[in-house]
Amino acid sequence: MPEKTLVLLKPEALKWGVAGDVIKELSNTKLRLIGAKLVKVTSELAEKHYKAHKGKPFFGDLIKHITGQFHKENVVALVYAGENAILRVRAISGATDPSKAEPNTIRAKFGKPKVEIGVFENVVHTSGNKEEAEEEIKLWFKPSELTERVFETKKVSVCVEQEVWK
Ligand code: RTP
Ligand code: MG
Repeated sequence: MPEKTLVLLKPEALKWGVAGDVIKELSNTKLRLIGAKLVKVTSELAEKHYKAHKGKPFFGDLIKHITGQFHKENVVALVYAGENAILRVRAISGATDPSKAEPNTIRAKFGKPKVEIGVFENVVHTSGNKEEAEEEIKLWFKPSELTERVFETKKVSVCVEQEVWK
């Protein structure tokens, strides 16, 4: 089973019009894209995603940021699969602080070097390890939204009201 990783193009990537450039950089890894969608991030999703940072002084701004309250934009969520996907994507993303990111990395090229909103405008989120990747992919994507069944699934019967096209 190939390794999987979640990449989020953060609201500033859409606001600054660099989402396509970032995807181009990611395609240089030759990893396989197996999931992609535009997400209007709720506080609930944001808090689950960043639960490891709960209690830190920047947590409030982290949630405001990923929910698009600073940039008035959404998030593009992507899943890449392939050998060493996690480290390869982290390597081309660069350090968390764009001013310290290695030259030619995504964060060095497209991130903002100055902190203006309490968190780094570093353009991408990438999973940190295998456990984080699995948890994050399952949080952001339903099995049917990925082109491959990369994790075990189960069948459940549900009866829910759903919005459909008229
Ligand atoms: P990410 O999760 O976004 O891929 O970034 P990362 O692993 O490189 O960094 P992490 O430590 O997980 O931090 C998550 C996000 O929190 C914001 N942050 N702000 N003000 C600060 O000192 C600070 N530290 C972290 C950043 O936006 C970072 O991407
Ligand atoms: Mg992280």
